[in-house]
Amino acid sequence: MRRILVAGNWKMNLLQSQGAALSQALAGKYASCAVEILVCPASPYLGGVGSTIRGSAVQLGAQNLYFAPQGALTGEVCGDMLKDVGCGWVLVGHSERRQFFGEQDELLAKKVAAGLQHGLQVVLCVGELLAERQAGQTEAVLEKQMAGLAQVSAEQMANIVIAYEPVWAIGTGVTATTEQAQQAHAFLRGQLKSRYSEVVASATRILYGGSVKADNALELLSQPDVDGALVGGASLKADSFIAIIEAGIQAQARKG
Ligand code: 13P
Repeated sequence: MRRILVAGNWKMNLLQSQGAALSQALAGKYASCAVEILVCPASPYLGGVGSTIRGSAVQLGAQNLYFAPQGALTGEVCGDMLKDVGCGWVLVGHSERRQFFGEQDELLAKKVAAGLQHGLQVVLCVGELLAERQAGQTEAVLEKQMAGLAQVSAEQMANIVIAYEPVWAIGTGVTATTEQAQQAHAFLRGQLKSRYSEVVASATRILYGGSVKADNALELLSQPDVDGALVGGASLKADSFIAIIEAGIQAQARKG
């Protein structure tokens, strides 16, 4: 049984006091929870948010890491630093990293491996551009982006979550239809089966991301192959993020 994961990617948003208020609200509400909850603040605030949520059901993740160990790499942050400030998770390969920072599958595979090596759970993000979907290339793009798993063994897949985020749905208010999401997720699960095994494919969580809101979360999370949400904009306010977590709890109960 896959446990639903509701993750908030705060991106480059929220100053210290805002992140503190939000994390206090979440930690205050969820001492425990039927679904997993994750927040990913900007890196200067990881330690602070980590202290606020300590002891609650809310977990801490970073939005990025560099694959090399500590050393002369100005501006970068490595896995043992993330672990040191209390992160249990890291996002890798978000489409904004791919689009605006030129990150490609070969680099991402190194980042995924580094995250695992440092004991972090890794959310590998994949997703096609609008032009790629319109050209009928969605599955080819997703298959190619699964190369981020190149260095991951079947055993290590227990610490990997895949996030399907169609780029055309991110921050646009245009959500993939439940059918589009389910279809892409089923395709990704098939990829996991061919890369690994039926066992790995059925145990690995695949999140949907892209304009997830309180009013569409339940329908998306109820799809058989949608195991959670990676939420941007709607994770920045306690009420909307809590509503999505509650939808997750309902979907989890429905799935049994
Ligand atoms: P939005 O929920 O703002 O569309 O962002 C999705 C996303 O990119 C999460 O990583």
